[in-house]
Amino acid sequence: MTTTLGISCFYHDAAAALVRDGEIIAAAQEERFTRHKFDPSFPINAIRYCLEEAEIQASDLDNVAFYDKPILTFDRLVNSYFAVAPNGVRSWLTSMPLWISQKLHIPEIIRSSMHYDGQIIFTPHHIAHAASAFYPSPYDEAAILTIDGVGEWATGSYGWGNATEVRILREMHFPDSLGLLYSAVTYFCGFKVNSGEYKLMGLAPYGEPRYLDLIKKRVAKIRADGSVTLNLEYFGFLDRLEMISPQFEQLFEGKRRLPESRITRREMDLAASIQAFTEEAMLKMANWVHKETGKKYLCMAGGVALNCVANGRILREGPFEDIWIQPAAGDAGGALGAALAVQFGLCKKTRSPTVGLDRMKGSYLGPAFSEQEVEAFLKNMGYPYKLLAVDERARTVAETLADGRIVGFFSGRMEYGPRALGSRSILGDPRREDTQRVMNLKIKYRESFRPFAPAVLGENVSDYFELDRPSPYMLLVAPVKKSRCLPRRTEIPENGDLLVAVNQKRSDIPSVTHWDYSARIQTVHKETNPFYYEVIRQFKELTGYAVLVNTSFNVRGEPIVCTPEDAYRCFSRSEMDYLYLEGYWLDKKDQPKIKEDNWRDEFALD
Ligand SMILES: [Fe+2]
Repeated sequence: MTTTLGISCFYHDAAAALVRDGEIIAAAQEERFTRHKFDPSFPINAIRYCLEEAEIQASDLDNVAFYDKPILTFDRLVNSYFAVAPNGVRSWLTSMPLWISQKLHIPEIIRSSMHYDGQIIFTPHHIAHAASAFYPSPYDEAAILTIDGVGEWATGSYGWGNATEVRILREMHFPDSLGLLYSAVTYFCGFKVNSGEYKLMGLAPYGEPRYLDLIKKRVAKIRADGSVTLNLEYFGFLDRLEMISPQFEQLFEGKRRLPESRITRREMDLAASIQAFTEEAMLKMANWVHKETGKKYLCMAGGVALNCVANGRILREGPFEDIWIQPAAGDAGGALGAALAVQFGLCKKTRSPTVGLDRMKGSYLGPAFSEQEVEAFLKNMGYPYKLLAVDERARTVAETLADGRIVGFFSGRMEYGPRALGSRSILGDPRREDTQRVMNLKIKYRESFRPFAPAVLGENVSDYFELDRPSPYMLLVAPVKKSRCLPRRTEIPENGDLLVAVNQKRSDIPSVTHWDYSARIQTVHKETNPFYYEVIRQFKELTGYAVLVNTSFNVRGEPIVCTPEDAYRCFSRSEMDYLYLEGYWLDKKDQPKIKEDNWRDEFALD
């Protein structure tokens, strides 16, 4: 038996993953345990959890894999500094203390934090992404594409996977980066780099791509192979601690939008423009990789692979028969990729059989809590609850949802990756016009323009959407079926008030239909999450609709809940109506009133 622990940390969203004899046993992000969103620190809690799940000690590990070669990143920083010296001195002086104290001493930190004295292997950053994309996929052979901001020198790569082998054929190098370009526009539009990219993608359908030509002419070029070249005049990440330069502001008509201030037409149009640019680049990359590798299928990872609108276009318009995207596509997934790369590349393990759709177990790889643990917590705290009989559980949740109530849903192993997939989710009725507004403003406390994702029974996906295959990880956007859509009654007013758009019914499932009649789909399958599947099936029996609204179980700025305590806290602070907690049923009306005035200050705005 060979066991490998993978670790990613010290940049963004630290995580740990454990793989034994080619099978993924456990994986989790550190933020879920420390309750600090995107916690980059050494993931000691996630590591402890992985070891516990595998019922082993650190000394039982055969090796530890780290998802990056820090010395190569250090090399990039030094070279970038000398390329722009003396301009980059402030950025250099800021980043160096962390390098000297942590990033160049990773083996010592691993050994002392974990009391581990075995082998430590550093995998290149994009090998880790590529391994996380290919090995858990259902394919015996496939092309691989990785695209992110930057890892060491690489900002993207392509290659192929065959059985237990992964090869990178070519890399795109810093500072030319599609991810950094998208992040620069994210920053300019007033959202946070490394997390607000998703918001920018959600904003894009409200705008027109009127800046696309200007971006292509002045800011970045797309080559035939889809790689991009940035005009560094418009960026600030080389010589100062900023994403953009003053020239960028001049080009796009003024200062960046201040976070939390009103979104104007400029931001909507810029979002639409950079989204169009990204889709064009990614489609070209997909076509190029197909030509170079001759493979039928494509696997993707890296932060840019979370762009599910572009993924949907690659599936519909690209040359591949099918695509598979790693659900933890960002750097958190590097922990899993590093462990897999070592298991197959070094330890020569064989791949585990597919279960359901792939080898990723639905990404339900985090901690679960037993009924006994939940009961002990509820009794201890004196919270009123009802224990539901096993055969009435799914029905009770479905009936409550059909009645228009919002339910916090906590069931089974926590998801690995940024999306909640029905283990730590907030559920609602997609047929109701007000679900999007209520969920955004009263439950999540976030911007009202952001749409929610539909969770649909796998076998019914084509009844609602222009999609004929599974999308289990909410990583594909597809149009809502035309027959379900309603004509547009108003346009977005000149003052940019998006509530006008949000409040307009767009289809018979309005809460999950975006302004452009698209939806970010999660298909739900019996093999990977039978209880969640059953809830939706019962909802279908009651209403005729095999679709629910699914959003992550957290409030704005908070990591997705991990434990029953986290779930109860989030439930009691927000305006959710009911909480389903592993068979236990809590009605908000019965719960004690909380006396916290400023709890929202606990989480930084995302
Ligand atoms: Fe990365």
